[in-house]
Amino acid sequence: MKNIPCPACTDATPETVSSPDRRKALKSTSALLLCSGLGLARQVLADDAANSHPKVGDQLARADSEGRPAAMHSAEILPNARPVPAFPLDPASGAMRDGSRLNKVILIRVAPQDLHPDVQPYAAGGVLAYSSVCTHQGCEISEWVPKDQTLMCYCHFSKFSPGRAGEVMAGPAPRTLPLLPLKEVDGVLVVAGPFTARPGVAKSA
Ligand code: FES
Repeated sequence: MKNIPCPACTDATPETVSSPDRRKALKSTSALLLCSGLGLARQVLADDAANSHPKVGDQLARADSEGRPAAMHSAEILPNARPVPAFPLDPASGAMRDGSRLNKVILIRVAPQDLHPDVQPYAAGGVLAYSSVCTHQGCEISEWVPKDQTLMCYCHFSKFSPGRAGEVMAGPAPRTLPLLPLKEVDGVLVVAGPFTARPGVAKSA
């Protein structure tokens, strides 16, 4: 029987196998496989970034960002205003860590006179990042009550004091709101450490 060399193993391929059209087709197929492999790898990395916990050095991006998320500056957080929901942003890949709602924070600016000394190390120019997940039954905290300077959960009206490390001031919430430490780098908000406790309804870590 005539011995036909394998086209994948040698350059000495017979004419029927190594025609220009055949070589072009093989190149295209290889390129396609390489591209789909790279695309898959990129997708896996993006999913990993989206699902992983906030990391030191992450920036923050608005939770309602459209298009490419942008790093937030501390000046965007105004005093005595509703908290701004945000997710950590991996500056290397540009991916938001929005795969888990436990990564979501609310940003609030607290006046210097209302900031307890114990909380100051966690603030970036007066801006604090708290978990947005209520420690009672996990509802989203979205309201600011100027009258008593508290963050409020509408589900059962728990109130938390941002100036006092997220202490529970009213309602059924069983524990303080976890803080995500921040620092400021050239005006940009940057994560400076892990959450002070596990976000959500679970007991503190
Ligand atoms: S879930 Fe927030 S007070 Fe009940």
